[in-house]
Amino acid sequence: MTAVDPTAGEIGPDEAGPGPTAASEAVTDATPARPFEVGELVLLIDHKKRRYLVTLSEGGKFESHTGVLPHDAIIGRAEGSEVSTPRAQRFRAFRPTLSDYVLSMPRGAQVIYPKDLGPILMLADIGPGMRVLESGVGSGALSMAMLRCGAQITGYELRPDFAARALKNVTTFLGAEVADRYTIELRDCYEGIDERHMDRVVLDLPEPWQVVPHARHALRPGGILVSYSPSILQVTQTVDALHAAGFDELSTTEVLNRTWHIEGAAVRPDHRMVAHTGFLTRARLLA
Ligand SMILES: C[S@@+](CC[C@H](N)C(=O)[O-])C[C@H]1O[C@@H](n2cnc3c(N)ncnc32)[C@H](O)[C@@H]1O
Repeated sequence: MTAVDPTAGEIGPDEAGPGPTAASEAVTDATPARPFEVGELVLLIDHKKRRYLVTLSEGGKFESHTGVLPHDAIIGRAEGSEVSTPRAQRFRAFRPTLSDYVLSMPRGAQVIYPKDLGPILMLADIGPGMRVLESGVGSGALSMAMLRCGAQITGYELRPDFAARALKNVTTFLGAEVADRYTIELRDCYEGIDERHMDRVVLDLPEPWQVVPHARHALRPGGILVSYSPSILQVTQTVDALHAAGFDELSTTEVLNRTWHIEGAAVRPDHRMVAHTGFLTRARLLA
């Protein structure tokens, strides 16, 4: 078992940007009128609703097929401003939401999409100070969502490159200080969990049923396990293991999100939707 050092910097700043703000604050900040600063992430949206994530730097340039936008045209402006290239290509500039960041951040492993991240927070009932065992951490999308709710996470991850990526993504979006509540250990969750009296175990790995017997010892009575799996065959095996290990209050949920097109009299569901991503299985440990 090896802990990942938050200062080790395995991933260069060029890949994910130099960090949240010049003052090393979290990207998401509740001060509505604060103008954009050097070092911040900004989300640019063009007239075709294409989205670009950019880290602002002094003298920097954002280059796209629609033209070159100097960062100086954004720095000092209010969030929600419209900014233009010299060839009059316009963009709206916003601070990225967690959802925006998850969809465009650098990835190692496949992330859990925002449509499932929200429900996982509710199913696992994640809240401030909760002790969570998460495995594997992948690109850190789920970690970010739980950390933002105030959880304290111990992550078990097999791959050092994914662990480093997750840590970089998490601290880029939430700020360096969040590393106090986020520890990643390079280890195989199938071989056991050392932690005890955990409030939650949250899983996104290929064979969650192998973790269930260990989760039983890691969780406190009444603790919640949530597992995300793309295949229903993974779910049935996990559910069998949960019953055998003394879990109760089992449920399995699939989240289908359908957006609507609303424009004058043209009111209909959008033609496309992300139908299947994964199943969310939840259970509580009996005393
Ligand atoms: C799909 S990714 C997790 C993505 C993550 N939930 C996110 O939202 O970014 C699955 C991760 O589980 C890790 N993994 C697979 N088997 C594991 C095991 N036995 N113990 C620890 N991690 C494991 C993989 O290396 C991979 O990083």
